[in-house]
Amino acid sequence: MDKLSKTSLNYYLSEYLADLKRAGVQELWRGDSEGSAAERRDDAPQSEARPAPRPAPRPAPAAVARAPVVNASSTCANDVYAELARALEVAAGAGAADDVVSRTARLRAIAAVVARCAQCPALVANRTQTVFGKGNPCSELVFIGEGPGAEEDLRGEPFVGRSGKLLTDMIEKGMGLSRSDVYICNIVRCRPPGNRNPTVEEARACRPFLDATLGVVRPKYVCCLGSIAATNLLGVETSIGRLRGMAHEHNGAQVVCTYHPAYLLRNPSAKKDAWQDLQLLMRIMGLAIPTKKRSSES
Ligand code: URA
Repeated sequence: MDKLSKTSLNYYLSEYLADLKRAGVQELWRGDSEGSAAERRDDAPQSEARPAPRPAPRPAPAAVARAPVVNASSTCANDVYAELARALEVAAGAGAADDVVSRTARLRAIAAVVARCAQCPALVANRTQTVFGKGNPCSELVFIGEGPGAEEDLRGEPFVGRSGKLLTDMIEKGMGLSRSDVYICNIVRCRPPGNRNPTVEEARACRPFLDATLGVVRPKYVCCLGSIAATNLLGVETSIGRLRGMAHEHNGAQVVCTYHPAYLLRNPSAKKDAWQDLQLLMRIMGLAIPTKKRSSES
């Protein structure tokens, strides 16, 4: 096994142990799996903000035609981490390069495992396809959302609907970056039916894929969009209103949490708080902050 594969494997093993610890924390959270009423008011389900569901489900596009599925009955986090480690070992191939090409190959290997995943029956039955992350695999900054909506499910890309348009404005008009410079992914990779929140179990089942993605991109900065992203990444049960406005830490990355773009679409008055959060992120990243109000605030 080459050095890179060993590093990746060590990463997943240590993440798996951390996952077990987190499971302890989330058992406590499970008792209140829908989040507190205050939290739901803070960052409520996104049904109004997401595109209306299409009348008839479309067949899966050829590009995502199902490969044999991972054995759902025997799959557990351990199996998924092991399968990811094998896929990454193959993708790392001959060299130990850590550049755009090799990171892209490793992300594709993870995406292929994701596309076969059948751990969550309700999501598998409902999805057109899985929705993996997208963006610059060498970016210092990763945005994490909740899960694909209708548009994302159809197109197979994260944040391409109305929320995605606002997220693009936050990144480009707000932060002065290009969307293609950053990496964007979600807590879960299948669309929850009716755009409900992903359950604790679904978020946990998808966690190895998030860990593996972050293990390849290794961001210095993470921006969590909304309470589902923030609480799951950080393993806490605090409302987004309390998590925002300060920096957190996860695996060596500095994490800023803010409101989900879908929430901002429903509650434009919260955009000023989100702009404060983006400015905090920019300060941490050493980016210049414009003196004039950006148009994403209006
Ligand atoms: N909302 C999310 O949280 N993620 C997406 O990809 C789209 C909408």
